Amino acid sequence: PRSFYFSRHGESMFNVMQRIGGDASLSPRGEQFAKRLPEIVIRNLGEGTRLTVWTSTLRRTKETARHLHVPKVAWKQLDELDSGVCDGLTYEEIEARYPADFEERDSDKFNYRYHGGESYRDLVHRLEPVILELERHYEPNHSIMIIGHQAVLRAIYAYFLNIPHERLPYIKVPLHTVVKLTPKAYGCEEERFSADI
Ligand code: F6P
Repeated sequence: PRSFYFSRHGESMFNVMQRIGGDASLSPRGEQFAKRLPEIVIRNLGEGTRLTVWTSTLRRTKETARHLHVPKVAWKQLDELDSGVCDGLTYEEIEARYPADFEERDSDKFNYRYHGGESYRDLVHRLEPVILELERHYEPNHSIMIIGHQAVLRAIYAYFLNIPHERLPYIKVPLHTVVKLTPKAYGCEEERFSADI
């Protein structure tokens, strides 16, 4: 089918500590989501439809995919926005250490590039091969699910829903929610399945 699915990874220990980036494992709540995921997705797929899961190379996405016993591909291009020198910090720490940067990011979030890291604009370019592959994938009876990260999924969602660059970095992609997109001749149909965890 033309539909594909995506979800953020389950809550990670860095989410709990409000730290950005890193390569933390899932929190107990995140683990619960990982366990619920097969039920949510497999039921929705319908009979006779195969699934392939795409994750990033980071452990929180692989751990979220763990209970889905289907073929998996780990894409480096799906790794979270690289926050460079700010990796592992909280927003409060970033504001205290790099006040000018904090303000600059606030005034132009799409173009702001972390020192030693990336901007949302960089991310949009990095994701081009993934989106191309998703678009040419369409096979009957075979769906793709992406288990990704907040910034990455904002970029993918904005591409399919035609959301302008200025609004892209503010798109809400809640945790523990599976989104199903079905591209149509004009626009995209969207369904959401919340895991209620
Ligand atoms: O906090 C989770 C996270 O995925 C971070 O790793 C990442 O830097 C951030 O969200 C992206 O969101 P924003 O661009 O709003 O800071």
